[in-house]
Amino acid sequence: MGLAAAATGAAAVTAGTTVPAYLRTPPTAPLPATAPSGRFGGQVVLVTGGTSGIGEAAVRAFAAEGASVVFCGRREHLGRDIARSLGRDVRYVRADVRVPSDVAGLVAEVDRAFGRLDIAVNNAGVSRTAPAHEMALDQFDEVLDTNVRGVFLSIKHEVPLLLRSGGGVILCTSSESRRPGGVAYSASKQAIQGIVDAVALDYGSRGIRVNAIAPGTTDTALVRPPGLPDAMWEAFRNAWGPLNVPALARMATPDEIARAILALCSDDFGYMTGSTVLVGGSPLSGGKMTMPPGFPDQG
Ligand SMILES: NC(=O)c1ccc[n+]([C@@H]2O[C@H](COP(=O)([O-])OP(=O)(O)OC[C@H]3O[C@@H](n4cnc5c(N)ncnc54)[C@H](OP(=O)(O)O)[C@@H]3O)[C@@H](O)[C@H]2O)c1
Repeated sequence: MGLAAAATGAAAVTAGTTVPAYLRTPPTAPLPATAPSGRFGGQVVLVTGGTSGIGEAAVRAFAAEGASVVFCGRREHLGRDIARSLGRDVRYVRADVRVPSDVAGLVAEVDRAFGRLDIAVNNAGVSRTAPAHEMALDQFDEVLDTNVRGVFLSIKHEVPLLLRSGGGVILCTSSESRRPGGVAYSASKQAIQGIVDAVALDYGSRGIRVNAIAPGTTDTALVRPPGLPDAMWEAFRNAWGPLNVPALARMATPDEIARAILALCSDDFGYMTGSTVLVGGSPLSGGKMTMPPGFPDQG
């Protein structure tokens, strides 16, 4: 759908929806620049897909809680800016999770810089949406290569360093998404749940916990159609909440999901492995996501 049609849809959405003011402002306060607890002090964390969205929020949150962090993504200007803003204990490595030598190099940099690995957050992911008969094979392959092969490669290279460090935590970003056109994305995210089950069984007795988080829809570039002006996105976003999240009636913020990631990686969840945890404003309960009228495809 073109932007002109989307604009008509956004106008209809704005006219037909009343979103209470309090729902426009996340009730969860933003993370402080420096956290009081430092609960990840002395720990080394790897985050894939840390150049924007949920991954960037997780990088910032782990750093604020005292961890040393290495993160990757392909957009070097973003990675460098984030690392520069967080100081010496946060390193950016340009790595594409689909490329074996990149992932090997990323983990080697963790080892070189900090000598150990305690927590790996395998978060890098992409989404392409279209009904099956209209989805190009290279789009399907891109989603599966990034979201499934990328997670496998990450785990393959992380495990030896985690074992050498005496154990640790792997947390993968899955999804419960059932959005229209989600044939590739849904397949990839359910595959992650299978990977988590298998790897948890393989390494539980050797001190590695392996889980997945399935965030509810979160306000990031992954769900915001490219090229959409801010005002139009705000209208769609505010209309989307009441249609899809009966309890909280809004999308999550990246900070809110990052907080949950930190909690799941902490010792508070020391007895949990092989689980996929839904962190959503209320579960979709298997229902299909409803897009506001005129919501553009992501292509
Ligand atoms: N937003 C949601 O509603 C939602 C809900 C459930 C699950 N998730 C999942 O959350 C994760 C983060 O997504 P997000 O919502 O935060 O969107 P985002 O802002 O687009 O973040 C995606 C991240 O993945 C990185 N990435 C993509 N392809 C990569 C590749 N081949 N190699 C290395 N890094 C790559 C991107 O970095 P570069 O572009 O710089 O490479 C970026 O840092 C994804 O796995 C997504 O499926 C999101």
